[in-house]
Amino acid sequence: MNRVCEILGITKPVVQAPMTWITSPELVAAVSNAGGLGILGFNAGFETGKATPEETAEEMRKVIRKTRELTDKPFGMNVMTSAFDGAGFSRATIEVCKEEGVPVLAAIGAIDADQIHEWKDAGFKVVYRDMYPTVASAKAAEAAGVDILVATGCDEGGGMPVEATGTMVKTALIAEAVGIPVLAAGGIVNEAMAKASACVGAEGAYAGTRFVLSKECRAAQATKEDILNTSADELIVLTEADGYLKWRCTPHKVAKEAIEENNKGNMKPSTGSFFFGMLKGDMDAGINTVSSAASLIKSIDSCEDIVNELARGYGC
Ligand SMILES: Cc1cc2nc3c(=O)[nH]c(=O)nc-3n(C[C@H](O)[C@H](O)[C@H](O)COP(=O)(O)O)c2cc1C
Repeated sequence: MNRVCEILGITKPVVQAPMTWITSPELVAAVSNAGGLGILGFNAGFETGKATPEETAEEMRKVIRKTRELTDKPFGMNVMTSAFDGAGFSRATIEVCKEEGVPVLAAIGAIDADQIHEWKDAGFKVVYRDMYPTVASAKAAEAAGVDILVATGCDEGGGMPVEATGTMVKTALIAEAVGIPVLAAGGIVNEAMAKASACVGAEGAYAGTRFVLSKECRAAQATKEDILNTSADELIVLTEADGYLKWRCTPHKVAKEAIEENNKGNMKPSTGSFFFGMLKGDMDAGINTVSSAASLIKSIDSCEDIVNELARGYGC
């Protein structure tokens, strides 16, 4: 049996990667009901941001309960590791996940072995994605006890690693170095890309952009159509947060202004509001961030069809 499926209690080794506002109970449940693993992102299903970690966690409790009403299958919650969770939003949400019996934490950040031990002792399965994935960080994560590693290349949508290694090479390097299963993240948008990642050692997909273009994703229709109508050659890659993060975006006002700022030496340009750019479809107010492989996606499909297609790449 596929090890990712065995560990997560699912039937298809396809994880819908967390994508903050544009995830929701409907998206997550649709993926989990199709046999994959849906993951709630930060502010999943929220209509507005909450001011405090406690308010956020309580709102997340409602979202978790709504997800439970829609599926009896496993699903996960996205959290930050300690180094990236200064205000404690993830800490508060993890307490709620414990109380509500969410089985999987999909963690992003830098490895903190004590924290991984705590999560494992609390009974969570841990899928771990290092913000700056290297062979060394993968080995450290394995030693700390994570169950499944995510190998992220610079092909991914969202805030991507600054290092310029693509998904296939990153997956091959990490799969060779560790004994636990590896999911490929970045550009896994169809069966061929899934199969390519399987050839270099991935045992499943951690796919974001492909699920933006799903019927169940709550991203605005205008945002989805913008992705379908943009060619690979038009995408803009900009640097943000003092050179700390990169984003690949469709070519609109905020992204164009940000790249001009980068060209002037400003490595901390505004990227606008993701809430407006992707959830509300106002591409003048925020970025629409996608994978380098986005133009290989030809249609908006059901999560069930997407899960089935990607799973075929892993022989499932
Ligand atoms: C629109 C968008 C938003 C994202 N937001 C998050 C997030 O909130 N947390 C996170 O851990 N990863 C986030 N990611 C990264 C994904 O979890 C995943 O690593 C990535 O989507 C995989 O690459 P792909 O988009 O090529 O499939 C986001 C990705 C996208 C496309």
